Amino acid sequence: MGLIRLLPRSGAAQRAVEPVDDTTPEMPLQEALVEPPPAVSEPAQEPEPAEVMPVAVPAVQADDAVPAPQGTATHVIALANQKGGVAKTTTTLNLGIALREMGHRVLLVDLDPQGNLTMSQGLNPDVIERSMFDVLVHRVPISEIIEQREADLAVASIDLAGAELALSAMIGRERALEKALAEVRASYDYVLIDTPPSLGLLTINAFVAATGVIVPVQCEYLSLRGLVQLENTLAMVRENLNPHVGVEGIVATMFDGRTLHSREAIEILEENFGELVYRTRIRKTVRYAEAPVKGSSVLKYDPSGAAAEAYRELAREIVAAKEAEDGAQARKHA
Ligand SMILES: Nc1ncnc2c1ncn2[C@@H]1O[C@H](COP(=O)(O)OP(=O)(O)OP(=O)(O)O)[C@@H](O)[C@H]1O
Ligand SMILES: [Mg+2]
Repeated sequence: MGLIRLLPRSGAAQRAVEPVDDTTPEMPLQEALVEPPPAVSEPAQEPEPAEVMPVAVPAVQADDAVPAPQGTATHVIALANQKGGVAKTTTTLNLGIALREMGHRVLLVDLDPQGNLTMSQGLNPDVIERSMFDVLVHRVPISEIIEQREADLAVASIDLAGAELALSAMIGRERALEKALAEVRASYDYVLIDTPPSLGLLTINAFVAATGVIVPVQCEYLSLRGLVQLENTLAMVRENLNPHVGVEGIVATMFDGRTLHSREAIEILEENFGELVYRTRIRKTVRYAEAPVKGSSVLKYDPSGAAAEAYRELAREIVAAKEAEDGAQARKHA
């Protein structure tokens, strides 16, 4: 089994991960434990063909890849994990609002046909007339479907469920989101994309548009195999569509420090992914479920609570990493 390359955050040592050789979708934490990764000499090894083939990776021309945008500091972050219920939507919203509180210009994009992000801002995806579906499939300008809520929000509607099928017949199907974002990209410092729990064409569109991927991982029910599968898909996107995208961080969610299980999950993540794992832990609390019912982020629902503070801390950690990265880029071009 080959080595899987993950892109480290700025300043972090590059990590390689020996994927877990299991066949069950989820496994006990002890069985998930793997040997610490061996050192990798440069150049980094290319991943071998995936043992677990990701879904819907399109055939494209390598020369279709576009260079990284110059002169723009917009960070486009896809929140992704094909496992359901790991807090992708919760993290997209609350991280986005925390970044906004810090003064950054933030666009949230709901790319999930479930429309949970849209709902968690008090909008009903069932009655929304124009949404990301129209942007991706009918090329409606994204500015026309952005709603001003706690942050700007490109909404999803129930139609989005048909987007993968409609897109699959279109030329440039993997670049529809990247092209749509070009119109508004310069107006934002951070674009956060909430993706569905799959590695299908909508998630591929997010990876193609993204400058980086943040992976929320539920501490309770850790699947290293799932992370390897995600990285395999990202490796194919890097090879064919967006050479600049990689996992820039893993955020541990639903952490319960009182249980050995949760603490073990963190240990396993850190052993395997090192500095890719954010220091901020998102603890388990019912506040995160309560806030969307009120159509708001936890930062608005309970501004002084620990739940809100956790996402502020995560936002500060991410911004610090970005500033270090931007500084390094500026020095490189000076
Ligand atoms: N830290 C947390 N503690 C407790 N509950 C949480 C936490 N984060 C999220 N939740 C709750 O867990 C559920 C799943 O969260 P969320 O919808 O954000 O996951 P998701 O990964 O977006 O799911 P899906 O894959 O279905 O899109 C929600 O009810 C949410 O309120
Ligand atoms: Mg979700």
